[in-house]
Amino acid sequence: MAHPDLASRLIVLKDKIRRHDYLYYVKDRPEISDSQYDRLFRELVELEQAHPELVTPDSPSQRVGAPPLEELAKIPHDQPMLSLDSIIDQGEVQAFDQRMKRELETTSVEYSAEPKFDGLSVELGYDNGIFTRGATRGDGTTGEDVTVNLRTIRSLPLQLQAQSNFPDHLVVRGEVYMCLDDFHVLNRRITERGNDAFANPRNAAAGSLRQLDSTITATRPLVITCYEIMALAGPMPPTHWDELEALAQWGLPVPKGEHRRLCASIDEVIAFHHHTESVRDQLPYEIDGIVVKVNRRDWQSRLGMKSRSPRWAIAFKFPPRKEITIVQDIVVSVGRTGTLTPVALLKPVEVGGVTISRATLHNAYEVSRKDIRIGDTVKVERAGDVIPAIAERVPIDGEQRRPPFCMPDHCPVCGSTVGREGAFFYCTGQSVCGAQLKGTIEHFSSKHALNIEGLGKKTVAQLVDEGLVRSLADLYRLTKADLIKLEGFAERSATVLLESIEGSKAVSLDRFLMGLGIRQVGQHIAKVLARGFGSLDEIMSADRERFQQIREIGPEISESLAAYWSELHNREVIAQLQESGVQVGPGMAKGHRKESPLSGKTFVFTGGLDHFTRNDAQQSVEALGARVSSSVSKKTSYLVAGRDPGAKLDQARTCAVTILTEEEFAELIARNENSPS
Ligand code: IVH
Repeated sequence: MAHPDLASRLIVLKDKIRRHDYLYYVKDRPEISDSQYDRLFRELVELEQAHPELVTPDSPSQRVGAPPLEELAKIPHDQPMLSLDSIIDQGEVQAFDQRMKRELETTSVEYSAEPKFDGLSVELGYDNGIFTRGATRGDGTTGEDVTVNLRTIRSLPLQLQAQSNFPDHLVVRGEVYMCLDDFHVLNRRITERGNDAFANPRNAAAGSLRQLDSTITATRPLVITCYEIMALAGPMPPTHWDELEALAQWGLPVPKGEHRRLCASIDEVIAFHHHTESVRDQLPYEIDGIVVKVNRRDWQSRLGMKSRSPRWAIAFKFPPRKEITIVQDIVVSVGRTGTLTPVALLKPVEVGGVTISRATLHNAYEVSRKDIRIGDTVKVERAGDVIPAIAERVPIDGEQRRPPFCMPDHCPVCGSTVGREGAFFYCTGQSVCGAQLKGTIEHFSSKHALNIEGLGKKTVAQLVDEGLVRSLADLYRLTKADLIKLEGFAERSATVLLESIEGSKAVSLDRFLMGLGIRQVGQHIAKVLARGFGSLDEIMSADRERFQQIREIGPEISESLAAYWSELHNREVIAQLQESGVQVGPGMAKGHRKESPLSGKTFVFTGGLDHFTRNDAQQSVEALGARVSSSVSKKTSYLVAGRDPGAKLDQARTCAVTILTEEEFAELIARNENSPS
C-alpha cells in the first residue's frame, strides 16, 4: 500500500500539470516555463513508475499512448454524425436565410458563425468530468474507438475544470486537426526517414489519430476544437453561442472568440465570411470556409435533419485557392498498370500553405483541351485534399509559345511502344517495364491467376526493391538464401513461399493468360481465349482477324492482344518463363489449384442461388481444385439445389449423389477455403 503522502502528492502534481496544460494548450497563456513544466511532469512519471497501482486513466502521463491494438474497435453513435451541405456563393447563403425564415415563420434569424476546421470530426464522452471515450465519425453511424489516441492530444482535457459545475454526463463533438507549421515539420521528419509525406494537414491528422499504436499518435502534433454538445445531464444551453461558452467554461477548447461571431442578420454573416477569408492566411491552421448555424437550439430542433445533414447549418466555403506559376516542363509518369499520365513540373509556388511543384494534367485530352504547353503561365488550384491541378492557362500578351505537347511514342521508363485507348495512353511493355513490375508480379501471382500464396504486395515490393526479381521469370530462380535475407522471412516462411512458387509451374492456359495482365483480358476473356484456341502457341501466332473470329472477342480486345504480342519482349518473357519450368497446360486443364479436401470433386448446380452468382459459385469451386459440370452422373460429387430446382435433382437422387442446399454449399466452401492447404 502506498504512503498516503505519496497519494496526495500525486493529486497535487496531476492538478498542477492539468492546469498548466489548460493554460498552455487551450488558453494560449502559459504561466510557467517549459523547463518548470518538464520538472513537474518528470516527477509525476517517476512516482507513477514506482507505484503503478496509483496510475489513473485521467493522469496527464497517460498522454504518452498505450500498447498497440490489433484493430480499432467499433463504436455505434447514439445519434448519427452528419455532414454539412456546402455552398460557395452569396446568392446561395441568402437563399439559405430565406429558407430558414420561411420554415421558422419569422422575419429575422440570428446566426452563430465560426471557422470550418479542416480535419476530422470526433465524438468525446465525459462521465463525472473524466474523459472516458472518443470515437471517429466512421461511416456516420458507427465510428472507431480512438479513446487512447485522443488522450494523447494535449488540448483535450482528460478531466473537466473542477470548479466549473460541469455536468455528470457530457457528449461533445469537435474536430481534430493539425497546424500548418507542425504539419510541415512532421512531413520533414517523416520524409527524412524515407517514408511518404502526408498530402495535406487533414490527411496527416487522420493518419495520426487512426493509429493502432497510440504512442505514435502521441508524437503527432494534433489539436482539437469542440463545437457541439450532443448530450448532457442537465439543462441544455438555449443557443449555440451559449453552448460554446459552456464548453469553454468546463475547460474544453472551442473556436476562439475573435474567430467566431454572433450575427444578427445574413448580411453580417456575409461580412464575417469576407473577414475570415481575409485573415485566413494568418491563421495557424487550415480552414476551408465558415460554418453558419441557426443560433437558437429550439429552432435547430424545429428545423431538424435531412438524411445526411442538419437543416439548420450550412458550410459557407471559400472559393478554391488559385495561384499563378509557370510550367517548366511536362513529363510523363507511368503508373503501376502502365497508364501514362502527363505531369506539369511547375516553378514552385505556395498554394494555401503548401508548396506545389507538380500538378497532374490527367491525360492527353486534358492537356490539349486546356492547351497547356511548356513555358506557359498557368493558374494552379488546390481544393481540399484534391491533388493539385492546373485550372487554366493565363495568356500573356506577346508571349512566344512552344509547340503543343505530344504524348511520347515510347514508354519513358522502358522504351516499349505506347498503346492508346481514346484519351488514355499506356505502355505495352507490362512485364518488362520497371514502373509496372511490382503491379505485374502482384497480378501474376494473384488468386485467379497463378495463385502463388504468400506472394503478397509487401513481399513483391521487397523482392523488386532488393533487385532479386527483375522479371516474372526471376520468381522461379529465387532460392531460400535469397528469401531469408528479407525482413520478415525465416526458414519456414521461405520454404512455404518457394513451394508455392514451385507449385504454380503447372498452370492452365486461362489462368496463365489472365496472369499476364494483358489489357482487356480478365478472368472471363482469358477463359474464352483458352477455350477458343486451346494452346498458348495458337494464341501467340494469331492475328487481329483471327482473334475476332472468337465469340465475345471484339475489336478492342483484338487490338490489345495484337499490340501485346507484337512486342518482342513480351514474347521473350514467355520464353523465359517456359525455360524456368512453367508449363502452360492446354485449354482449360485443371492446372494449379489450391489443394483442398475438395480437390478433384465435381459439383453440379440446379435452380436459383440467392447469395452467389453462378459465376462466383463456379470460381469458388474451382479455386478449391474442384470443377463444375453441367450434368449429373454417378461421378458427380455434389448437387447444389437452389430455388426451384430442375430435373437434375431427381437425377441426383437416382445416382445417390450428395445433395446440398445453398446454405450447406456456402458452409462447405467457407470451411475448405479456411482449411490449411
Ligand atoms: S458542426 C451536423 N462546426 O465539417 C454536422 N462542423 O462538412 C455539424 N467541421 O463533419 C457539424 N468545423 O467534421 C461543425 N465549426 C464546425 C466545424 C465542423 C469543421 C466539420 C465536421 C463535419 C464537417 C461537415
